[in-house]
Amino acid sequence: MSDAPDTNSQANTMWGGRFAAGPDAIMEAINASIGYDQRLAPQDIEGSRAHAAMLARQGILTDKDAEVIREGLLTVLSEIEAGSFNFSTALEDIHMNVEARLKEIVGEPAGRLHTARSRNDQVATDFRLWVRDQCDAVMEGLLALQNALLDQAEAGADWVMPGFTHLQTAQPVTWGHHMMAYVEMFGRDRSRFAGARARMNESPLGAAALAGTSFPIDREATAAALGFDRPMANSLDAVSDRDFALEFLSSATICAMHLSRMAEELVIWSSAQFRFVSLSDRFSTGSSIMPQKKNPDAAELIRAKIGRILGANVALLTVMKGLPLAYSKDMQEDKEQVFDAADNLMLALAAMTGMVGDMTANRESLEAAASSGFSTATDLADWLVRELNMPFRDAHHVTGTLVGMAEAKQCDLPDLSLEDMQSVHAEITDAVYGVLGVHNSVASRTSYGGTAPVQVLAQIERWREQLS
Ligand code: ARG
Repeated sequence: MSDAPDTNSQANTMWGGRFAAGPDAIMEAINASIGYDQRLAPQDIEGSRAHAAMLARQGILTDKDAEVIREGLLTVLSEIEAGSFNFSTALEDIHMNVEARLKEIVGEPAGRLHTARSRNDQVATDFRLWVRDQCDAVMEGLLALQNALLDQAEAGADWVMPGFTHLQTAQPVTWGHHMMAYVEMFGRDRSRFAGARARMNESPLGAAALAGTSFPIDREATAAALGFDRPMANSLDAVSDRDFALEFLSSATICAMHLSRMAEELVIWSSAQFRFVSLSDRFSTGSSIMPQKKNPDAAELIRAKIGRILGANVALLTVMKGLPLAYSKDMQEDKEQVFDAADNLMLALAAMTGMVGDMTANRESLEAAASSGFSTATDLADWLVRELNMPFRDAHHVTGTLVGMAEAKQCDLPDLSLEDMQSVHAEITDAVYGVLGVHNSVASRTSYGGTAPVQVLAQIERWREQLS
């Protein structure tokens, strides 16, 4: 049995049996997700093909029907890929659009595909597959960015620049060290996506509407066919949760936050006041009125992307909060948020990778800035502790007095004469000048994870090995 003609041609052919009339136009508009969930077509068809093959192996479908269905689904996919598929809002979503077209192509067997399945486990499966692919894509994007940063770090492993706290000159650091800080951050981002991916890699398919099914299905088989590690162990959980999407979004939010901070540094560094880096023409724009301008638009947009990505994270959490088990239509609101966040994160990663690869660090400006602002004051205090056995608090005070003196004379610490120094503390010798230069300063910070070029080069090597 099947294909009983609709008594009312307006009622939905997929579920309209008990309906006398079709939906109001506004109902159709609020209900339909086909406008965006058509992006799930490849996953939907992959899931249906796996389901059909399993049904045949279990004797629930004939081999012939399963073969016809599986072939027909490939035809549907090729039509979608070719752009010739006619998506219908009346058919609500990708699942029903695909099935309706399948029926047009293969006829009666199409109606058997939905045996032992529901759109609830179908959409949960499709979306998991989609988000899983995005995790892989983001991880690859992060890897490319890390490699671009490693190249920058290696090129300037021993170039000195000011390190900041409160955006005030603090201590000299190396360019390589600064680049490697981001390599670490993006490395943790990558492992967050890897962790989310591992947790989400279980198959909801076969949970059916919410309670499982009385048909003798093989969930292990469909899970394996779709590359999942195993079927999800609870059918209610399988159709109810979207925590996998939320983990993707929260990992994306943290990653976007890192990108935003780096973008902000590039905006500052490329300004005329800093001149630490110049961005390539390929990643800058001009002004239509001020001919001299070269604007870091890409960096600014990357800085801003966190807004919509965090917005998506908050939006989906808010949708999910307070929903009773199992499926509610609220959950249809999951997709646009995740699609938008994923698209924009990928774009931001690609733009940042391109920008980092193309940018030129200005070694002279970096070094000049590193040498100003009394950046080696801590080295002076440390010298007093080490060489004169002074308690650090006293050394801090003596150094502060010397900084005040240099400030009054409008010179830097190394420009103070030995007499000036000795007027503050008599035991200072001219050996002190050895620690006041920025190169000596960075070279001395050899503690594990410190800014000394030897440490930086060791970290670069470790990461190169890890990423190869
Ligand atoms: N388009 C729906 C969604 O995205 C598919 C699941 C519909 N299930 C249902 N029982 N109406 O969530």
